[in-house]
Amino acid sequence: MENKRNWWQDAVFYQIYPRSFFDSDGDGEGDLAGITAKLDYIKSLGVDAIWSCPYFVSPKADNGYDVADYRDIDPSFGTLEDWKVMCDEIHKRGMKFFMDLVVNHTSDEHAWFQSAISSKDSPYRDYYIFREGKEDGSEPSNWMSVFGGSAWQYNEPTKDYYLHLFAVKQPDLNWQNPKIMDEVSDIIEFWADLGVDGFRLDAFNNADKDQSFPDVETFPGEKYGFASQHYVSRPGVDEYIHELYKRQLGPKDLVTVVELAYCPVEKAIEYCDPKREEFDMLYFFDMLNFDQEGYDKFKPVPFKVSDLKKTMDHWISNLHGKGYCALFIGNHDQCRALSRFGNTGAYRVRSAKTLANAMYFLEGVPYVYQGDELGMTNTDFQSIEEYNDVEVHNYWREHVVDKGEDPEKVLEILRERSRDAGRSPIPWNDSPNGGFTTGTPWLRLGSEYKTVNVEAEDKDPESVLNFYRKLLHLRHGRPSIIKGETCWLDLDSDEHMSYLRKFEGETLASLNNFTEHEVTVQLPEELDAENAEVLLSNCGRETLGENAVRLGPWECLTAVWNS
Ligand code: GLC
Repeated sequence: MENKRNWWQDAVFYQIYPRSFFDSDGDGEGDLAGITAKLDYIKSLGVDAIWSCPYFVSPKADNGYDVADYRDIDPSFGTLEDWKVMCDEIHKRGMKFFMDLVVNHTSDEHAWFQSAISSKDSPYRDYYIFREGKEDGSEPSNWMSVFGGSAWQYNEPTKDYYLHLFAVKQPDLNWQNPKIMDEVSDIIEFWADLGVDGFRLDAFNNADKDQSFPDVETFPGEKYGFASQHYVSRPGVDEYIHELYKRQLGPKDLVTVVELAYCPVEKAIEYCDPKREEFDMLYFFDMLNFDQEGYDKFKPVPFKVSDLKKTMDHWISNLHGKGYCALFIGNHDQCRALSRFGNTGAYRVRSAKTLANAMYFLEGVPYVYQGDELGMTNTDFQSIEEYNDVEVHNYWREHVVDKGEDPEKVLEILRERSRDAGRSPIPWNDSPNGGFTTGTPWLRLGSEYKTVNVEAEDKDPESVLNFYRKLLHLRHGRPSIIKGETCWLDLDSDEHMSYLRKFEGETLASLNNFTEHEVTVQLPEELDAENAEVLLSNCGRETLGENAVRLGPWECLTAVWNS
């Protein structure tokens, strides 16, 4: 590796959603001691670094993405002492630890905000963004919140509105106030001193808003409009992150991955240009949006593997030699990848492996979301009451309560697309509640936990879990994977996702059939199928046969040539 900061270029990250990972104390919610208890499992996957979603003091209106105290652990997750033990144990196993830094907004229960809403004279008033309503008393602008409805909330005591791009309980911080920089720099220092190795910067490319708050176009019949052009990747973001880099991230070798919603690739290239000293890795969103109508995730369009390839190609070919993106098939903001892109019937196991094989040999840094390595599918929620997510409940209110849409149809779409569908507790074994908790789980478990669980898959050499282990281990240390250019084999095909990675004398091929029938992938003439070494296969294959490689239903393989 070129320098100390670049260790992550050859790393595999594992994403923990702590509330659903493992409950060590029987209260029905995962916790930090639960993470510590399962570190050997994570290490066994071939993981180098862990990123955990938030566990700070929070009313959990958005499951911890609403922080009320940045320097302490929410009691449901444990204590600061538990955090230190966890971090120490992670380091003892040679892994790094990344925390989620949620500083585009705080919780409305944060002491700063409580003071800010109490009076216009509060010293914290400028920590947030308040505006008078329009002359008719309506919101200062028609901006829509990411979770639906207005992005403004009226505050009775001061008779004005505050901005919340996300939930009502997530007021946006005012980064145009230099005090926010000082506060966040101190928070970074606090955790760096305790041993954290890096940060995932939540929604950070939204930090700088056009504070003239112009009205935006709305969709026909809608009151609020999508205003992202006025708060995504504006110049302030470069300034803020560079300042944090100078103060904390650079001197302390802290690595960052930035969540990038609706960011053009040209801007992303600037963000990860080492000379600019801004971010390290990019976690881009196009990967999440290509199978939906416009901005509406609840309006899916049928999945086409060519769209997935073109989305990845757009980023990877533009970033090649310039920067690295996170490679992921799912995360806590999505339904389960297997339900979305794979086959949940007869080819469940095969297709879960194919998804991993197709994604994790691309150029970038794998971020494996907990449970994807088991081949978990969407949770079968039975009623609206079983859901937890603020996005789900807002959607229900808007579509069923306000617009009178058919509740059954709405439930169906929520089962398919909601974030909760991918947030169920991890099944560790086939005992009640999958061994996740001895109490009552905070969210329904997936219905397959009797067979799809860590213990069962650990023992089965053909399981999804053991395939992930092989894949992630053999990914390490191969120059073609880290640096190789990507050559797609039939980018337009809607049947397979196949590509070569080439670097100096090594060529690697990842071939992946995304259908239930046989598909032939043609290798270029300069590669001799007979000389290929098959590194990985979900069908027990040891040779490629001929250059026209015939793949069975949902078959995948990875092969390598060295000259
Ligand atoms: C990010 C998080 C998401 C959260 C939102 C607001 O997109 O990944 O879970 O709801 O930010 O913090």
